[in-house]
Amino acid sequence: MKKCSFDQPKVAEASATLIIIANPNAVEENINSVLKSWVELGYINEDSVETMRSMPFKNYGDKDSLSRKLFAVKNTSFFAMSLMIAAKGLGFETHPMDGFSEEKIKANFNIPEDRVIPLLITLGYPKPGLKLLPRAWRRELKSYVKYNSFS
Ligand SMILES: Cc1cc2nc3c(=O)[nH]c(=O)nc-3n(C[C@H](O)[C@H](O)[C@H](O)COP(=O)(O)O)c2cc1C
Repeated sequence: MKKCSFDQPKVAEASATLIIIANPNAVEENINSVLKSWVELGYINEDSVETMRSMPFKNYGDKDSLSRKLFAVKNTSFFAMSLMIAAKGLGFETHPMDGFSEEKIKANFNIPEDRVIPLLITLGYPKPGLKLLPRAWRRELKSYVKYNSFS
């Protein structure tokens, strides 16, 4: 994994390195289970199942399309962020990484070519006595928050 990640030391030092994988085929693979649960829970009735089934394909295109890949990466990134927050709550430290070769990671860990790897997350305990530098520069809120219109 370290060789696939530009030799970044944290990959070897951390207790675990998570490969976060986005699956553009998730719609096809899960739509029946989603629709079955929606009917069982009363979100929709049987008559509207086929209408709902067509929605994700209309919204996110075919599984090879850019819009589908973006949809997969969007969902996976929210999952990654939630995982990092949950890990912090459990006393772990995490470090997101996009400094890696996706091709090498896929080859070394038998990940299908059609998957997208938005990031890795190293996870572990902070080194005893570790003193982090103060948080670096951040953009001011007003520089990126707009009200009612972008410009
Ligand atoms: C998507 C993403 C990918 C990152 N990839 C790397 C990486 O490959 N190696 C690294 O040392 N830091 C990486 N970082 C961490 C950034 O260096 C770090 O977030 C930034 O320095 C700000 O530090 P802070 O988030 O702790 O304030 C990444 C951060 C993000 C959000």
